[in-house]
Amino acid sequence: MTIGIIAGSGFDRLDELEVLHETHGTTPWGRASAPVQQGRLHGQPVLFLSRHGVGHALAPHEINYRGNVAALRDAGASALLAVYTVGGITAGVLEPGTLVVPHQIVDYTWGREHTYSQPGDVLHVDFSDPFDGPLREALVTAAREEGGAGAPPVVDGGVYGASQGPRLETAAEIDRMERDGCDVVGMTGMPEVSLARELGMRIAGICLVVNPAAGRGVISMDEIRETAAAGRVRILATLARAVP
Ligand code: HPA
Repeated sequence: MTIGIIAGSGFDRLDELEVLHETHGTTPWGRASAPVQQGRLHGQPVLFLSRHGVGHALAPHEINYRGNVAALRDAGASALLAVYTVGGITAGVLEPGTLVVPHQIVDYTWGREHTYSQPGDVLHVDFSDPFDGPLREALVTAAREEGGAGAPPVVDGGVYGASQGPRLETAAEIDRMERDGCDVVGMTGMPEVSLARELGMRIAGICLVVNPAAGRGVISMDEIRETAAAGRVRILATLARAVP
């Protein structure tokens, strides 16, 4: 199984990746956000794609999710590990730096190209369980092993609410998401996860909480940047350790 890593804010460039080969990322669905890099992360063979493109050029609603997932598949990935930065909604995932490995998704996005279905070839995939069990377990175990004493917690399971962005949510929108059962909120989980399912690729994600969601605490853009930077090393080590 070849693992593709797809990561967003804070991971535009992976200087830690020893790059062996690059494909241009052109697909029948248009160009991916960036070239797909094939290389070694802490010695583990992986493919890597920057979700927002180099220099964080693309807003969440501008990303060509179909191109990104297809480019990783075409480069040889059969399974994906995805990294998301998120806001924490529920008690237990509010502390910045917390890592959440979600087991479910609620999709609030709109207007994104969200399916490979074509006229005459309509794909009705089972999406009851959007994330792959064994890959989730590998991420939880690896993240716990990489966290030293005093490290922010790793939460096994949670519901990821995918919001449209690029603005953050209102407090009332977060209240609604909480009533819907969401634990964390991010802008890029969908349609990435369902597109992977349409292509028959296994996927699991790891969420880095970088702020309390709206109405759940003080949101500081500086703290978001600092938390993202601080979580980076642990996440990269976790991903490498989780490669089956
Ligand atoms: N909302 C949506 N996406 C996010 C947030 C948030 O509070 N923090 C990081 N990504």
